Amino acid sequence: MSSDQPAGNFQSVLDEQRVFAPSPAFVDKARVNADALAALRAEAAADSVGFWSRLAREHISWQTPFTVGLDDSAAPNYRWFTDGRTNASANCLDRHLGALGDKPAIRFEGEAGDVRIWTYRQLHAEVCKLANGLKSLGIGKGDRVVIYMPHTAEAVIAMQACARIGAVHSVVFGGFSASSLRDRIEDAGARLLITADGGRRGGNIVELKKAADEALDGACKSIEHVIVFQRTGHPVQWNDKLDLWWHDVLATQPAQCDPEWVEAEHPLFLLYTSGSTGKPKGIQHSTGGYLVNATVSCQWVFDLQGSDVFWCTADIGWITGHSYVTYGPLANGATILIYEGAPTVPDAGRFWKIIQDHKVTIFYTAPTAIRALMRLGDEWPAQYDLSSLRLLGSVGEPINPEAWMWYHRVVGKERLPIVDTWWQTETGAIMMSPIPGATPTKPGSCTQPLPGIFVEVVDEAGTPIQGNNVGGYLVITKPWPSMLRTIWGDNARYIKTYWEQFGNQYYVAGDSTHRDDDGYYWILGRTDDVLNVSGHRLGTMEVESALVSHPRVAEAAVVGRPHEVKGEAVFAFVTVRGKRPEGDEAVALAKELRDHVAKQIGAIAKPDDIRFADNLPKTRSGKIMRRLLRSIAKGEEITSDTSTLENPGIVAQLQGKG
Ligand code: WT7
Repeated sequence: MSSDQPAGNFQSVLDEQRVFAPSPAFVDKARVNADALAALRAEAAADSVGFWSRLAREHISWQTPFTVGLDDSAAPNYRWFTDGRTNASANCLDRHLGALGDKPAIRFEGEAGDVRIWTYRQLHAEVCKLANGLKSLGIGKGDRVVIYMPHTAEAVIAMQACARIGAVHSVVFGGFSASSLRDRIEDAGARLLITADGGRRGGNIVELKKAADEALDGACKSIEHVIVFQRTGHPVQWNDKLDLWWHDVLATQPAQCDPEWVEAEHPLFLLYTSGSTGKPKGIQHSTGGYLVNATVSCQWVFDLQGSDVFWCTADIGWITGHSYVTYGPLANGATILIYEGAPTVPDAGRFWKIIQDHKVTIFYTAPTAIRALMRLGDEWPAQYDLSSLRLLGSVGEPINPEAWMWYHRVVGKERLPIVDTWWQTETGAIMMSPIPGATPTKPGSCTQPLPGIFVEVVDEAGTPIQGNNVGGYLVITKPWPSMLRTIWGDNARYIKTYWEQFGNQYYVAGDSTHRDDDGYYWILGRTDDVLNVSGHRLGTMEVESALVSHPRVAEAAVVGRPHEVKGEAVFAFVTVRGKRPEGDEAVALAKELRDHVAKQIGAIAKPDDIRFADNLPKTRSGKIMRRLLRSIAKGEEITSDTSTLENPGIVAQLQGKG
């Protein structure tokens, strides 16, 4: 682990000494206090499979109860609750219709201030209509449906409709480009695409239909229909052979659709995420096991209770939007808030106004958003009544103590618990977090694993490092219900990526961590070639492939550098065909390359810095020295020995000095 690791806020977190105990007022009403937490941990330690089986029985409705807890006969392809049958949509909707039918399930606000509320009964009716519509198009159990939607209630409806009929959804973030969409549709072999005419953000229209048309142009032969939700009403191209309006599909359908009872292991969804290679991988999640962790973690971590209004700001295109916008809160019968738009429209007070207007009680967002809001100034939150809030959450990247303290002081008024939740697309649900009514918190630490989750810090050889005040690779040592099942279409890659490094003994998270003197965990960053830009995962090779697909680019190496708001920024070193551009030409080409990357992947992957050089630093065996590039990107003094370089003279030029 050592020198090749991104430094991030390592030093500053190691110096962090502050501890915040849960407030007695919160503890009094909490679902889980310290005694309850100790009891859960003891139960899980004694028999983790029995523990998860009990929770699965108590918190999930099964059409056919399971008798098998864990099936490890094909480990590390673990399977849970295999002989049980359930349905995710029935768990999120039908079982609430009796007592909670008139309770708001979704409060939606658009950027223009348009508000719409769906009760559980109304949401159920819409989901049933769309589910029937999907069936009328011949979509059924096991078919893949790609959802490329704006962050609206209809996106949730689309996911629920798929789940209802046993179709496997694959949501593609609306910020991804046509070409990313095309790759994901083709990899999944999807029969149907659900999209919208457009989305709204920052006063602009996000041209989703246009991108979808481009993705499908001459490709994606598996797609039989495209359902288009009308969000903006602006003119879009229409293909009579494929396209159907959402409102036309729903118009003729009954508001009743029996859920398809599927085996617990039936895939609920695929979600593509970046890894160390150029090709994103389709993370496959199950139905039963996934629901168990998504549901229970909401109760433990967010203390979710009947009167809560839960606002998770993540887009449905990410795992956080799956587990903590859609499945977890709805399975608990909560009210969720969905906001489609930018945080600064019409002004920097928008988030705080939403919290005030909708009486949001739980607010869950990413450190990058917290840092951006912090920079806008304390006067913005000060203008609004935030007294409805009772809990704050953070997810997606390490939160630096400074941002944590601002969240605590300015948003939490020094009285609200903060839960810093560590997990991944692959884990399906939160793995490490404080329990707000039980765990004292430290700014920057995700504290400890949840009950039933067992982690270790291991060394290069995969040997667990005993004791505290140690660092190494983070691994999860026992299977848990919501773990990924495989990588769609590539089980060998599943095993290679997550298990092989330490002899198939542990799930290898890909993060490095420090365990402090109190046994608290501090996540330090990725150990692979994955960047975390504004809480979004990006493979350096993905960006490199996008760059070299431009005709002017000969070679590219991409690294991360620390960024005040984004956490990490994308820094690209590029060699071109022909003469190295300088001055205005370099500025123009850099812009062209940034746009090219946005077109290939999406705007989130645009390099912040592009530096042109005649050569990349290579060892004599031809390996690019990324460690050196990372130092240069950070602006560090280069003191290390560069004599092993094939071309030591290149360093000054890479530093922008030549
Ligand atoms: C990677 C997973 C599942 C949440 C959304 C991101 C980093 C996530 C934390 C945290 C420090 C964190 C890790 C992880 N990460 N949460 N609380 N503290 N780092 O999901 O895109 O699958 O990325 O995000 O590096 O491996 P993802």
